[in-house]
Amino acid sequence: MNAPTDSLPDAGATPPSGADGDALASSLVLAARRVRERAYAPYSGFAVGAAVVDEQGRIHVGCNVENAAYPQGLCAEAGALAALVASGGRRVLAAAVVGASHAADRPVMPCGGCRQRLREFAGPSMAIWLADEHRVLGHRTLDQLLPEGFGPADLGRAGPAT
Ligand code: THU
Repeated sequence: MNAPTDSLPDAGATPPSGADGDALASSLVLAARRVRERAYAPYSGFAVGAAVVDEQGRIHVGCNVENAAYPQGLCAEAGALAALVASGGRRVLAAAVVGASHAADRPVMPCGGCRQRLREFAGPSMAIWLADEHRVLGHRTLDQLLPEGFGPADLGRAGPAT
């Protein structure tokens, strides 16, 4: 069984940088934009798409899925992570989140719960690209979004999945 990952080994788990990194970011943003079109958000009217790349270089996507019983709604990131795990992935090397920005330079940011969800499978330097329909508005590391977060190591779980 694969153990949860933790405090992580950024070594050997960093996404490519330079031109390869730019290409990966573009692929993630494109995938998140595409899946966002399938969002089920009749109550908020706020569609979100997310994409994550796993340790095999595979991209997994998710969109928000709302529910008439509001608290049962799911965030886009949760769907993308569920798809990653269901495909046998155990690490998130980079992510993108796409939503309609209501301020020129203010991207839609992952909610607190989704920062924690990402934390389960990613190291502190994991890059999260933030975009709207038209523009990439920036990126953050997971550590910027969730400093000093609680993770598997706090439950005595060490090391990456095998
Ligand atoms: N939402 C996400 O899908 N991800 C986030 O990180 C922030 C919020 C969704 C949940 C809900 O369906 C809608 O956006 C409005 O909150």
